[in-house]
Amino acid sequence: MAKAIYTWFTRIPEHGCSFSYLSKKSRFDTLPRADSLDALLSSSDVIFLGVKPQDIDSVLSKTKQSQRWSKIVISPVAWLSLEKLRSYVWEQARLVRTMPNLALAYGASVTWWYAQDSTDADIWLLKKWTWTMWTVVEIEEDQFHDFSAIYGCGPAFLLKIFASFSNHSAAFAWSKKEQRDQLSLLLKWTLAFLDAHPEEDIPALISKVASRGGVTQAWLEVLDEQNIDNLLSDVFQTASRRSQELSG
Ligand SMILES: NC(=O)c1ccc[n+]([C@@H]2O[C@H](COP(=O)([O-])OP(=O)(O)OC[C@H]3O[C@@H](n4cnc5c(N)ncnc54)[C@H](OP(=O)(O)O)[C@@H]3O)[C@@H](O)[C@H]2O)c1
Repeated sequence: MAKAIYTWFTRIPEHGCSFSYLSKKSRFDTLPRADSLDALLSSSDVIFLGVKPQDIDSVLSKTKQSQRWSKIVISPVAWLSLEKLRSYVWEQARLVRTMPNLALAYGASVTWWYAQDSTDADIWLLKKWTWTMWTVVEIEEDQFHDFSAIYGCGPAFLLKIFASFSNHSAAFAWSKKEQRDQLSLLLKWTLAFLDAHPEEDIPALISKVASRGGVTQAWLEVLDEQNIDNLLSDVFQTASRRSQELSG
């Protein structure tokens, strides 16, 4: 996740802010690296916490008291509620919980965020930045599990479908690159189609591409017979429950 955030930093247009990062061993030549956490904190108003939950304590506990003034701490740490995060972070910090996916690196993440103790100025700043990097959705913290289950897990889910398309394209004897190109085109075409009809809902768009009695219609009927909606309902509920279990 940290790498996706760094990659985004290298891509955004002029933003009037400066960025630097800290990691244990990774190096990113295009971004300034801080020498220490205190050096990073002394020049930052906003901190992205791109670490695993088990590392937060070891990273933040070394912060000097003098650096613990009121800052915005943005946490993409999965399953960690703001209540738990508060126990790792100093009292004056204003906390923001967010759930991006790795498409953030390409400016294409659907990202949930929820702010606690943030001022109107914080929210303004967050909105100003985040619109450049992802589709931002502000929701309540208790909606986090369902959001993660659908959009957080979404890339893996869509890739799983693509794997199936790939398996069934074996007869074409395409190279791996040709297969990838076809899948990529399929996705791009579908997105372009979706974007071209902003007012229409998804079932109406499906009707547009499925002629009555045709091949797509036959394909869709099998999915309906197998009740794909029920299957996906199970998938999302299981993932949401898992997210709740992991947050303890
Ligand atoms: N991966 C995803 O798709 C995704 C999506 C949403 C949210 N998240 C959240 O993002 C967080 C990071 O996940 P990840 O998959 O990106 O893990 P990761 O690849 O292991 O990245 C962890 C980062 O933490 C740095 N780090 C660890 N200990 C450190 C220390 N003591 N001082 C300084 N830096 C330290 C590591 O530095 P080095 O690189 O030098 O080791 C690394 O850059 C997790 O909390 C996860 O829940 C991930």
